[in-house]
Formats: sequence, structure tokens, C-alpha cells
Amino acid sequence: MDLCFWYCCFLFSCKYILMAEPDHIFVKPLPNLAYDNDPAAFPFFYITPLEHEKVIRKYYPKERGPVSDIDPIGNSPVIIKKTLLEKIAPTWMNVSIQMKEDEETDKTFGWVLEMYAYAVASALHGVQHILRKDFMIQPPFDTKLENTFIIHFTYGCDYSLKGELTYGKIGEWRFDKRSFLDGPPPRNLTLPPPGVPESVVTLVKKVNEASANLPRWDDGI
Ligand SMILES: *[C@@H]1O[C@H](CO)[C@@H](O)[C@H](O)[C@H]1NC(C)=O
Ligand SMILES: *[C@@H]1O[C@H](CO)[C@@H](O)[C@H](O)[C@H]1NC(C)=O
Repeated sequence: MDLCFWYCCFLFSCKYILMAEPDHIFVKPLPNLAYDNDPAAFPFFYITPLEHEKVIRKYYPKERGPVSDIDPIGNSPVIIKKTLLEKIAPTWMNVSIQMKEDEETDKTFGWVLEMYAYAVASALHGVQHILRKDFMIQPPFDTKLENTFIIHFTYGCDYSLKGELTYGKIGEWRFDKRSFLDGPPPRNLTLPPPGVPESVVTLVKKVNEASANLPRWDDGI
């Protein structure tokens, strides 16, 4: 489910890899947040290994350690040393397949199954992540940019023209990636009405900045 950015490794044989998704906008230069054998990851509120002890134990048996070893993360965004990812990746694949083939696990984890599989696979290799809440924000629920590096536009942003959030109900003003399944968003999207938080305004401005500067935007390139 995730797109990984491997390019730099082919081009420059770099030491670290950033795994990120295509719905990430970088709002400032991203330094290497990892330190040697400690990768950096974003903690997701909806990845809760402790609440799924019974299922997790199928893949992370008691003798390995407490369930709290499993970080509340997915594989994106993550910055990790290439040699560590080389160790984790085959396990990650196997754990994903085992989870998918187990009905209870598949049902419990659903679309976040590979995220759990990554978290479990890293724990199986004794790898713990530095949890960086400032790695990214997720509008409309995070309203301020604070000192974040990435805006993740996973949720739809719906607002009334008075600037009130109408989450779950199509707003008079909206930005939702799901509106653009057939092609790229048009250039020069209308900015949100007054009162809409900084995070959403910045998101739309950045999309406009990209579309204004990419000559082949309309071709989806
Ligand atoms: C993954 O599963 C295959 C098939 O069961 C096995 O041969 C292989 O050793 C496993 N690899 C890892 C890293 O667990
Ligand atoms: C973008 O649209 C606004 C009106 O919504 C217009 O005033 C402005 O000139 C447009 N900018 C560009 C670069 O097309």
C-alpha cells in the first residue's frame, strides 16, 4: 500500500532510506531524523498493539518480550538505515502474508495490516523507532503547522463558507484527494474561506505551488 522512495539508493548508494507515501507534502527540508541503528517513525494514534495483544501474540510470542516492544507505527513515514531495512524487509513480507492469511488478523487489522506487520517485523529484529510526532501533521485534525516536516493529506477537508469544519459531510469548500481519482487536481485551486486552519490553507497553497511549477502537471507527471 505504500510507495517507497528508493531512488537515492540507486543513484548515490546512500546509507539511509526514507519510506513515504505519495500523499505527503514536504513543507520544510527533512533532515535525517534517524540515528545509526535507531530509525525514526511517526506514531499513529490508530496503531495500538496493546489493544490487540491476542492477535499480536500470534506473530510476537511471549518469549520475545512484551507487546509494548511493538511501536505504534507503520512503515511510512520512516527513515531507516539501509542495512537495517534489508534485515527487516523479508520478515515484514512474511509477517504481512501470515497476517493476511489469518482470518482473525485480517479482519482485526484491515487496511492497516501492513503497518502492523512492519511494526512487528522491526520488533522481531530488536529494532525500536524514535517516535517523532513532529514528523507530520494530518489536516483537518491537526490545525497548526507547528514545526512539522510533512503534511499528510489523507483525510478530506470539508468546510462551510464560514470556515466551520463539516467533517464527514461534503463542505461548501473542500479539498479531498478522493475528488481527483481520474486525474490531477486543476491548477490554482480556490483557497479555503477565512477561518480555516493554517494546516489546510498551507496544504492547498503547496498544491497550487506544485501545479504552477510543474510544466506537465496536466499530464499527471
Ligand atoms: C519467509 O517465509 C518463507 C516461506 O515460509 C521461508 O522460507 C523464509 O525463510 C522466511 N523468511 C523470513 C525472513 O522469515
Ligand atoms: C488564481 O485564481 C484567482 C481567482 O480565484 C485569480 O485571481 C488568480 O489570478 C489566479 N492565479 C493564477 C496564477 O492563475
